[in-house]
Amino acid sequence: MGNIIDGLAISKKIMHELKEEVDLLKEEKNIAPSLAVILVGNDPSSKIYVRNKAKACETLGIIAQEYYLPEDACECELLSLIKQLNEDDTVDGILLQSPIPSHLNIAKAFSKIKPEKDVDGFNPINIGMLSMGYPVYIPCTPLGVMKMFYEYNIDVEGKNCVIVGRSNIVGKPMAQLLINKSATVTICHTKTKDLKEKLLNADIIISATGKSKLITVDMIKEGTVIIDIGITRKEDGTISGDVDFENVRDKASYITPVPGGVGPMTVTMLMNNVILACKNRRNESEKN
Ligand code: GUN
Repeated sequence: MGNIIDGLAISKKIMHELKEEVDLLKEEKNIAPSLAVILVGNDPSSKIYVRNKAKACETLGIIAQEYYLPEDACECELLSLIKQLNEDDTVDGILLQSPIPSHLNIAKAFSKIKPEKDVDGFNPINIGMLSMGYPVYIPCTPLGVMKMFYEYNIDVEGKNCVIVGRSNIVGKPMAQLLINKSATVTICHTKTKDLKEKLLNADIIISATGKSKLITVDMIKEGTVIIDIGITRKEDGTISGDVDFENVRDKASYITPVPGGVGPMTVTMLMNNVILACKNRRNESEKN
């Protein structure tokens, strides 16, 4: 019981494969994929995430351009930057780091990122394609979770999967991916009446709430697969997940740690999507 799903190890393996792809693109076509990352405001966690994304790009030989807008940036500044990057032929992928300051409309901003450059998969066209089962760019965290299932031979078909958290970035696309693989999906959230009852019925739990130790050992059945996407930063600088890992691990069949679980997979899947965007764009331009 309690097999640890090692996100760091899978991530390293996939990064190695992606590096080979980037090297090949350089050798054969003299192309380096490129990613533009936009950060609006001063959210400290977002700054760390953006830095990690830029570092991963550097490791692979992907060109990373970082754009910082101030906390009080107006909508027109953000939208005009997106427009500029949409039109910039040297940019393959665009990522607007979420959250952004509350006076800005993030849904509108995501909808303005060209679907072909939308490496997060947050443009409504890409969300629609995913919901129809024809995904183009799949949101990075849910994609990372599906890769983990694949690497550990965890079959989701017919399984009761309970997702805790209904965000546009994780919960909702996660549900779509699982439905597309014939899982039976329940989404729980802050208004769910009896979370414990739902969790006790789960074969697979995927939690993304950011509420430390929300899921305790009495809330899961023996042999459940547990994916912990939650991140809570503690005062001492360490991070913890949504699951009471130490007490739950022996009752679970598989469990992801925090840190070292889903986190590294998110960044790696972003790299995957940037390379895909680069290849797709070149293939399109060769066709025309
Ligand atoms: N904030 C937290 N996760 C993500 C993500 O995957 N993409 C973006 N753009 N912002 C995020």
